[in-house]
Amino acid sequence: MHPPTIALLSLLPSILAQTPPPSNLTYLTAPALVTTPQNLTTIQCWRLTTPFRTSTTPGTSGTQAVTIANITNLAYTILPPRYDGGLHTAPAPQIVHYLSGLAHITLPQDPTLSLYLVGGKGGLLFAADTTGLGHITRYPSDQATVALLAPFEGGEVPGYEVIREGPCEGVQTFV
Ligand SMILES: *[C@@H]1O[C@H](CO)[C@@H](O)[C@H](O)[C@H]1NC(C)=O
Ligand SMILES: *[C@@H]1O[C@H](CO)[C@@H](O)[C@H](O)[C@H]1NC(C)=O
Ligand SMILES: *[C@@H]1O[C@H](CO)[C@@H](O)[C@H](O)[C@H]1NC(C)=O
Repeated sequence: MHPPTIALLSLLPSILAQTPPPSNLTYLTAPALVTTPQNLTTIQCWRLTTPFRTSTTPGTSGTQAVTIANITNLAYTILPPRYDGGLHTAPAPQIVHYLSGLAHITLPQDPTLSLYLVGGKGGLLFAADTTGLGHITRYPSDQATVALLAPFEGGEVPGYEVIREGPCEGVQTFV
């Protein structure tokens, strides 16, 4: 099976995906950057194995929440308009959440596969390609791109399933 060659659909990547049967549980789903055995970065669609639960925490009681991981050195970054991050690997396995702006991630060895991440709910990414050739990140919009970077404590990536090779296109989502 070929990964899709068009990245436009990933303008609306899924954050939340439902698995209809066999259960009513909901899982966090987002694209991930991973290193292949050939030491190249590729894109996968990950679904965390821990489901959302009904929160009992005051202030969010009764709503859906999932505890993902312990985090070290949470960073808030502001990338200028049209910034070019160049070719790099993830400095540590981490969650990257683009809050505003636009990020375009490309792979040097595969011009057919790329990822657009629009700031907001759909701006979530697991960046786990800490070794190998890496990926290129550019911020093509005319506004600053703001992102939260949340490295996993001890480099420990939370449990996940690969539900698709490539971006999370076609994954059922909540609107
Ligand atoms: C799923 O359904 C079960 C049984 O109906 C219910 O107890 C549980 O709270 C539901 N879980 C969620 C996350 O809605
Ligand atoms: C990938 O990189 C690792 C670590 O640098 C190296 O040990 C391994 O031989 C490389 N694999 C390939 C297929 O080049
Ligand atoms: C976070 O760290 C605490 C203390 O070590 C541990 O009990 C907890 O399970 C960790 N949480 C996650 C989501 O890994």
